[in-house]
Amino acid sequence: MSTDLSVQLAPRNKRGLLLANPVMTASGTFGYGTEYSQVFDIQRLGAIICKGTTLEPREGNPQPRLFETASGLLNSIGWQNIGVKALIKEKSPIWSGWRVPVIVNIGGDTVDDYARLAKELDGVAGISGIEVNISCPNVKVGGAAFGVNPDSAAGVTAAVRAATSLPVIVKLTPNTNDITGVAKAAAAAGADSISLINTLRATAIDINKRRPAIGNIICGLSGPAIKPVALAMVYEVAGAVNVPVIGCGGITSAEDAIEFIMAGASAVQVGSATFGNPRASLDVLEGIERFMEKEGIKSLGEIIGAARR
Ligand SMILES: Cc1cc2nc3c(=O)[nH]c(=O)nc-3n(C[C@H](O)[C@H](O)[C@H](O)COP(=O)(O)O)c2cc1C
Repeated sequence: MSTDLSVQLAPRNKRGLLLANPVMTASGTFGYGTEYSQVFDIQRLGAIICKGTTLEPREGNPQPRLFETASGLLNSIGWQNIGVKALIKEKSPIWSGWRVPVIVNIGGDTVDDYARLAKELDGVAGISGIEVNISCPNVKVGGAAFGVNPDSAAGVTAAVRAATSLPVIVKLTPNTNDITGVAKAAAAAGADSISLINTLRATAIDINKRRPAIGNIICGLSGPAIKPVALAMVYEVAGAVNVPVIGCGGITSAEDAIEFIMAGASAVQVGSATFGNPRASLDVLEGIERFMEKEGIKSLGEIIGAARR
């Protein structure tokens, strides 16, 4: 039996964002994709989302920037990246020869930064979409500040929308008390789809040093610890917006991914799991394929939102 795993993530966009399957890599956990092309056939994935990109290159936050905690990972990388110009010059020519679509995750300090980034990326061969990070908890300005309330989320989204014809995914933060309000505002301002969640604000203390274990003190929690939180938010947001939703947060297995899909996600992102198992995203995809075959499911659409009906 042949199963159809394809999914359209930008139905309102002229170019569209058609994925062969729903499994993507989460920004910041898969580099530029090139790093993993020796490990497994990355062309089999639904899409690759690259490391958060800013206008200028950044060195990121002070060390230490990673810390393992019970069922989770703390990070405060803080947008360490090569900058948009180097990305366009060095990475996009490689991506343009790939079958798998690459989506560029962008971050900035001001609305204008986001608009300029979107404009620079517009029309560049090898780039299939933009993911707007308004959800990074460990940069001092910008980032999550835009994602905490509907008005500022709408402002960034509208500016990016006006600057590019590429499909636009807006990535939400869980660190808000109005995630459905933010999601609705982003969709109304022109987001083609919504991804969630980024990391939860967190920290850890090194009791021997009597100091925070992370240089930046406040950082982001990811991994299995956040999965139930992410799942609840995806469930709520999928019921509130009429654009595709992309689920992310603690996905380590196909079963996790299928939970998100049944909660209403049209696609999923695998993040921290890649650090423990570099081919985690492919394992998730193959597990979804097996599940669909076993259950006699012919197309992904049959299970998207199945737990809501
Ligand atoms: C080391 C690290 C770096 C990250 N960098 C980014 C980034 O640059 N942009 C972004 O939107 N999210 C970034 N994230 C958040 C992930 O994309 C994802 O939303 C989050 O980790 C939750 O998924 P997970 O539990 O599967 O890791 C980063 C996460 C980690 C662990």
